[in-house]
Amino acid sequence: MESLVKLFMLCMLVTTAATVTVAGASTCQTYVKSCIGGSHSLQHYSNITYCTSDGKKYIGICGYLNASCLNPNLTITANGYNCEHKVFHRVTTTPKPLTYFEINLFHAISRTIDDRLQLSRARGITPEKAKPIFSKQDHTNKVYVRNTHCWAYGLDLTSISPWNSNHGTRKAGTLVTKRHLLWARHYSLKIGDTVRFIMANNTVVDRKIAGTKLVNHSSKGHESFWGRDIVVGMLDKDVPDGISFSKVMPRDLDEFRPVYNTRLPVMSTDFEEHAIVTDFSYYRNTGIGLRIPAKDSIEYEYYEKKIGGDSGNPSFFIINDELVLLFVFTSGGAGGGTSINHYYDEINRLMKEEGSQYQLTPVDLQSFEVSGHHIPHLVG
Ligand SMILES: *[C@@H]1O[C@H](CO)[C@@H](O)[C@H](O)[C@H]1NC(C)=O
Ligand SMILES: *[C@@H]1O[C@H](CO)[C@@H](O)[C@H](O)[C@H]1NC(C)=O
Ligand SMILES: *[C@@H]1O[C@H](CO)[C@@H](O)[C@H](O)[C@H]1NC(C)=O
Ligand SMILES: *[C@@H]1O[C@H](CO)[C@@H](O)[C@H](O)[C@H]1NC(C)=O
Ligand SMILES: *[C@@H]1O[C@H](CO)[C@@H](O)[C@H](O)[C@H]1NC(C)=O
Repeated sequence: MESLVKLFMLCMLVTTAATVTVAGASTCQTYVKSCIGGSHSLQHYSNITYCTSDGKKYIGICGYLNASCLNPNLTITANGYNCEHKVFHRVTTTPKPLTYFEINLFHAISRTIDDRLQLSRARGITPEKAKPIFSKQDHTNKVYVRNTHCWAYGLDLTSISPWNSNHGTRKAGTLVTKRHLLWARHYSLKIGDTVRFIMANNTVVDRKIAGTKLVNHSSKGHESFWGRDIVVGMLDKDVPDGISFSKVMPRDLDEFRPVYNTRLPVMSTDFEEHAIVTDFSYYRNTGIGLRIPAKDSIEYEYYEKKIGGDSGNPSFFIINDELVLLFVFTSGGAGGGTSINHYYDEINRLMKEEGSQYQLTPVDLQSFEVSGHHIPHLVG
């Protein structure tokens, strides 16, 4: 599948539609006007089934929007003919004051990226010049030069693969141990493919895929990749020193959903190997999603819509200058996919099944805690 999956782009619109109910009737009327005008962008959504909180089904976004004008409390609960794709809803209660842990953690998540973007701006480096991770990528002759003007230059980005023999710059793989990498099932690499990694000093390391396992794969094997768009790939041998792997969020932090006005930047790569910035939205159950940064923010200057070919590329929190892998892209727009955290045990189990002692490494968040207290679940 070449393209990022359309269905989730729909989820972006679902989000928009859901805010209509919050924003009130006048916004709703504006959307309905686009329906009456036959807006081209809405045509993509004309065949989608919207299952709503009143127990009804509407075919097409315009049917739903019409109904939501009449009932401002109407929300979408699911999509799909049998309402099989459940839609997650943010609870719009008054935000609780942040805990000490949250303040520290959110600050740490924002700081590395925001400080670096500010520094680029202060140095007069434009986003166009600061986004590319490499100033030269010659895949044929294996010559790579890291871009010293990249805002993320100096961070350890060596777990990110810029090239593979399967689809060149498309498709992707990101190391989570010295031997294992994760990528998207709907845009998969195969056993025997070469995956390439680049050391900080531009030394090229090629490895071959020796094994693949799918998360939550049933014995029948014909299940959809939704909610399980992760492949655990094993290399023929460990990567050498000079190539690192990404950490992941702690296993016990199995839901992460900061209040809506908390903007946490996430670094992603696309198939061009640009370091792009998007805001975090949530992870919960199998789902994880990003959202577009505020238009007046510096992050927005580094935002790019995720498009076909970006699938499988990684998204990270950067905490204390360390990359923490959250997911790989399934869907376009701001971007979404399957939460790695949800499959924490499963990924570890699959690595064992592949005959390895390696396991995921959680990022250490203990330093953000009040001593003696456990990390709370962050629900806003
Ligand atoms: C909607 O479905 C009809 C019938 O299945 C199909 O002909 C049409 O192309 C679809 N429209 C879109 C925008 O997908
Ligand atoms: C929505 O309402 C408008 C105006 O009331 C109407 O013209 C249009 O056909 C309706 N669309 C759907 C899909 O119900
Ligand atoms: C919408 O919800 C509010 C708060 O629960 C309630 O007061 C109001 O009557 C509801 N409106 C409709 C049209 O159901
Ligand atoms: C795996 O998929 C099944 C449905 O096929 C689901 O019931 C189960 O909860 C999934 N497991 C995880 C860990 O999400
Ligand atoms: C690049 O870094 C690796 C790992 O630190 C080191 O072993 C190697 O000698 C370096 N190569 C060059 C050309 O500096």
